[in-house]
Amino acid sequence: MPEKVTIYEVGPRDGLQNEARIVPLADKIALIDLLTASGLPAVEVGSFVSPKWVPQMAESGAVIAGLSYDHAARLSVLVPNMKGWDAFWSVRSTMPRGPDEVAVFISASEGFSRANLNCTIAESIDRLRPVVVAVQGAGLALRGYISCVTDCPFDGPTPPAAVARAAELLRALAPMPLSLGDTIGQGTPDTVAAMLRAVRDVVPVADLAGHFHDTGGQALDNVAVALDMGLRTFDGAVGGLGGCPHAPGAPGNLATGALIDLVEARGFQTGVDHRVIEKASQMARAMRGTA
Ligand code: HMG
Ligand code: MG
Repeated sequence: MPEKVTIYEVGPRDGLQNEARIVPLADKIALIDLLTASGLPAVEVGSFVSPKWVPQMAESGAVIAGLSYDHAARLSVLVPNMKGWDAFWSVRSTMPRGPDEVAVFISASEGFSRANLNCTIAESIDRLRPVVVAVQGAGLALRGYISCVTDCPFDGPTPPAAVARAAELLRALAPMPLSLGDTIGQGTPDTVAAMLRAVRDVVPVADLAGHFHDTGGQALDNVAVALDMGLRTFDGAVGGLGGCPHAPGAPGNLATGALIDLVEARGFQTGVDHRVIEKASQMARAMRGTA
């Protein structure tokens, strides 16, 4: 029986948040419903961040209210602070089924924390403290992201110890799984391996996911090294959508289809239907106008 790798789809959030065009609500819902029908175990469907900062995600409440929940995938949303939690919960608490996971995020570098969250790393942890309490009180799961795990567009290379420290800060809030983000796609197999060695010292590898952007064209090589180092969860964005609007030079998350091809070629099982992913990729590429 081949070992399983979990593919965590982030295109509807990390992808669409970076598209210049605001995708119509019905199209977002159709894309997510196709993704959840593909056998993907987890899909991040939106974020409750400031619409002034990320107008592309402003309709996330309507998105979650309009989705199909007739599938086994776990859905999640990204929340930066209590305003975001309140906006999410005002919709979710009225729904019999809905996203059951909340993703929170901090940066390993101060420069990106300031640009993305308008606060220091320590302040971002303070903002998340009540969010984590609220998520746990509602009986929902948590996921943590750490950004700029190898390189920061403002501060340069990120020391591996800074990523380990960020991991400890998040997991002091709650013992959540962590997704390690190469936000600007500048990581290499060497820098990724050095970072993972430091983080593995403080977090069990089963609780770590790799989140690679493909700006430097090395995302698949970075997945390969992370697989060798024991990671079994990877984030992908359908059709290679995405990036981060507050990280200059961060276009394109690793495409889900290419990610699945790599891990399956290396003998792992994903349980995802390739034909449905291909259809969703075409839909995603049409959304960004590059179909
Ligand atoms: P701020 O301006 O410092 O916060 O933003 P504030 O509390 O001073 O509020 C300012 C204004 O925003 C107020 O409105 C608030 O009501 C509003 P005003 O009084 O000016 O009219 N506001 C909100 N509105 C709706 N929802 C909210 C919310 N919070 C405040 N949740 C904040 C702080 C964090 C909100 C802002 O910096 C923000 O939204 N940033 C967005 C960052 C973001 O979404 N980045 C992309 C996601 S992270 C990522 O992509 C990386 C990842 O993929 C991993 C990787 O690749 O590394 C996860
Ligand atoms: Mg990202």
